[in-house]
Order: sequence, then C-alpha cells, then structure tokens
Amino acid sequence: MWSAAPNGFVVAELADLPPGRGVDLGAGEGRNALWLASRGWVMTAVDFSAVAIATGTRVAAARGIGLTWVVADVTQWEPPAPVDLVVVAYLHLPGPDLRAIASRVGGWLVDGGTLLVVGHDVENLATGAGGPRNPDTLYHDRMDFPGLTVVRNELVPRRTADGATALDRLVRAVRRPTLTSR
Ligand SMILES: C[S@@+](CC[C@H](N)C(=O)[O-])C[C@H]1O[C@@H](n2cnc3c(N)ncnc32)[C@H](O)[C@@H]1O
Repeated sequence: MWSAAPNGFVVAELADLPPGRGVDLGAGEGRNALWLASRGWVMTAVDFSAVAIATGTRVAAARGIGLTWVVADVTQWEPPAPVDLVVVAYLHLPGPDLRAIASRVGGWLVDGGTLLVVGHDVENLATGAGGPRNPDTLYHDRMDFPGLTVVRNELVPRRTADGATALDRLVRAVRRPTLTSR
C-alpha cells in the first residue's frame, strides 16, 4: 500500500551498519524490514494489521527473503531478546503511546545498538505536503529517548511521488555502553 522500495532515509542511514538482529515497529507491508533482511539482518516486522503482514509475508516468500512477521500492537509488544537495531518509520501514534515506546526502546537495544526514527514532522502541517494532520501524532525536535544518545535529530525534506516536498523528522540514536564497576 505504501511502496515496495525501502524508504530513502532508512537506506541512507543504515546501508553501512553491520547486520545483526533488528525490529521494525509498525512495519506495514515490510518494505524496510525486507530490505534489511535482504542485506543479512535477522529482522522481525511488527504491525497490528494482519492484512499488511500477510502481504509482507507473500512478498518475502516470492523474493526468497526470510524474516519473522508478528501481528501485534506495538504499544504492548516487546522483543523477546535484545536487538541491534530498532526501526520506526512513519508510525504515527498518539503522543503518550509514542513517548511510552521511546522510553522502552533503550532497554531493548544492546550496547551500541541503533534506533532510527523517521516520520512526518509537525512542521509539515504548515509548510509540507501530505501526512497526518493531528499534531499530537507528529514528530518534533524535543523527543526524549532515555538511555540513548541522540546523534542526529533533524528536519529533512522528502520529495513526494507527485513532486511536492514533505518535511520529515529523522532521529538516529545509539545506546550508550553500560558502565560496570570493578
Ligand atoms: C504509514 S504506515 C508505515 C509502514 C512502514 N513503516 C513503512 O514505512 O512503509 C504505518 C503503519 O503503522 C501501523 N500501526 C499503527 N499503529 C500501530 C500499532 N499501535 N501497533 C502496530 N502497528 C501499528 C499501521 O498498521 C501501518 O501499517
């Protein structure tokens, strides 16, 4: 429904990251999870739409790509083991639900693990194209990710299929190493 190709920001940010275990929250039909899995990542794609997950499953089978598909509400779901990467792309939840996930992600990642968030920014309402209109569900520059060090937090323009410009938020964060005392 969204597009078969992975999101350009996901590709630009993650192409050079060594493969490991990853989860894609609100994966939809799995364009990003499929791309990562095709590059050696052991991916789990999570979405509460059984229809989207069924489509992703069919595409993966047709392309011979292995990954795990989970039908679940991401506000309730937890990965069963620590992961190296969490991708959140165009998942627009009510503010409290998104903040609750943001506060948990640090605990899901291994030391040095990466969180990548891409989504419509609140600035898009005034000067960008398309996207959800409820400001409570949009991304902004003051998001907090406990336990993580934010290495990028930027408003990024994206060219839409019809040639307009949308304004997205891109956040890349890494889990700080856990300090141990001797
Ligand atoms: C705009 S689509 C983006 C899909 C995918 N991340 C991508 O970039 O192509 C948003 C997806 O989030 C899913 N979603 C929204 N709220 C969710 C929730 N609470 N739990 C699981 N999935 C959710 C929707 O079903 C939808 O597939």
